[in-house]
Amino acid sequence: MTDCKTRRRVSERRIEHPAFAALYDRCMPDRFLIGRHREYLADGLSGRVLDVGAGNGAMIPYAADLGTDGLEYHAVEPDPHMRRRAVRTAERSDLQVYLRGDRAESLPYVDDAFDTVLSGLVFCTIDDPDAALEEVARVVKPGGELRFLEHVRADGWRARAQDRLNPLWERAAGGCQLNRETVERFVGHDAFDVLEIERIGFGVFPAAPIVRGRLRRRTDGASLGQRAAGFFETD
Ligand SMILES: C[S@@+](CC[C@H](N)C(=O)[O-])C[C@H]1O[C@@H](n2cnc3c(N)ncnc32)[C@H](O)[C@@H]1O
Repeated sequence: MTDCKTRRRVSERRIEHPAFAALYDRCMPDRFLIGRHREYLADGLSGRVLDVGAGNGAMIPYAADLGTDGLEYHAVEPDPHMRRRAVRTAERSDLQVYLRGDRAESLPYVDDAFDTVLSGLVFCTIDDPDAALEEVARVVKPGGELRFLEHVRADGWRARAQDRLNPLWERAAGGCQLNRETVERFVGHDAFDVLEIERIGFGVFPAAPIVRGRLRRRTDGASLGQRAAGFFETD
């Protein structure tokens, strides 16, 4: 796969959060609470997969559990402190991971390069989520999927509280924004059809609600995509 020659300009701001990377690695209740949602993201993965904002590589063991036949796993992670941890995670697994330091807003891949793009708790943190979604739409094949697990802006008083807490939270949590309207952004993008979107029970305020879902890249490149009928609760 050759590099894309028409890279976007992205923010010059360095993405480097050593304390958050260490905390995330130690404190994320991964197998315990998030594991089954990671299994959802990994379910039946095959072909070329891109993990955007791979962090400490938390998705890698789930992908490796599928067996390595027929799976080519790529990942981008701009924070060197997270990336170092992702390298260690990859080394502990049987999966060959092609890891790069690029940002989601400027992916170094040709058009239609991937069967599936994974986004686990990333669109809350990306500086320019619209540019990142454009890039994801560009690199995922027609018929391919964007699978995501994201915390999003709440409703009512919780949303207002998130707005207030956000400046503090952002500094403590590696740039994470509590109040991103990620579902609206995804559903509103005309490159994708919604396969499913679920609001999941797990999630603790203020980083809640959490949604997971699958979008399919349209094959016709047609106009406004299908809109989600709405969220539905699951356990
Ligand atoms: C909360 S962590 C999630 C890590 C991992 N995806 C997971 O499922 O646990 C968010 C990650 O997004 C990365 N990130 C921040 N800005 C980014 C960008 N512009 N493009 C790609 N990744 C970015 C951060 O460095 C961080 O590792």
